[in-house]
Amino acid sequence: MNDIVEIEEENDDVPTPVGELSLQTIAMPADSNADGDIFGGWLVSQMDLAGAVMANRLARGRVATVAIDSMVFLRPVAVGSVVSCYATVKDIGRSSMTIIVEVWAQHHHDVEPRKVTEGQFTFVAIDENRRTRPVPRTS
Ligand SMILES: CC(C)(COP(=O)(O)OP(=O)(O)OC[C@H]1O[C@@H](n2cnc3c(N)ncnc32)[C@H](O)[C@@H]1OP(=O)(O)O)[C@@H](O)C(=O)NCCC(=O)NCCS
Repeated sequence: MNDIVEIEEENDDVPTPVGELSLQTIAMPADSNADGDIFGGWLVSQMDLAGAVMANRLARGRVATVAIDSMVFLRPVAVGSVVSCYATVKDIGRSSMTIIVEVWAQHHHDVEPRKVTEGQFTFVAIDENRRTRPVPRTS
């Protein structure tokens, strides 16, 4: 019993992704610069897609990105890494949804995935005429 408790305590120290796995892909050579590091803009694009997956579900339809805030790039991403985007809902307004997206990357040389980027994305629920509409409330 004590052994189990000790193992759980050890695992608490290992950083783990926060949120729901929303998108997973592989960083390819076409997404990198001449030195083999992945472009920040490519990562932002993956994060936007990952946030939109969650926002589309919450809005039950079309959304548009209205703002990207607090973007931090913590570590470079190497070509060939598995890139995983995790999304968490921070806030839901009338038509807006604020979603935190964390990116974790793992190259086959790495023992563990590492957090490489985090940003805050705000999406707005829109209708077929691009007018804002309320985010449906769940019971
Ligand atoms: C998204 C869009 C329809 C919103 O239209 P708008 O006239 O700004 O609408 P509003 O002022 O009513 O704002 C709508 C919501 O967005 C929020 N919002 C607007 N600008 C914001 C910003 N910079 N940061 C955070 N939230 C913002 C508002 O607070 C409001 O939230 P709420 O309904 O939950 O209270 C319009 O701005 C648009 O079409 N933008 C382009 C979207 C796009 O092309 N995205 C891809 C870019 S590459």
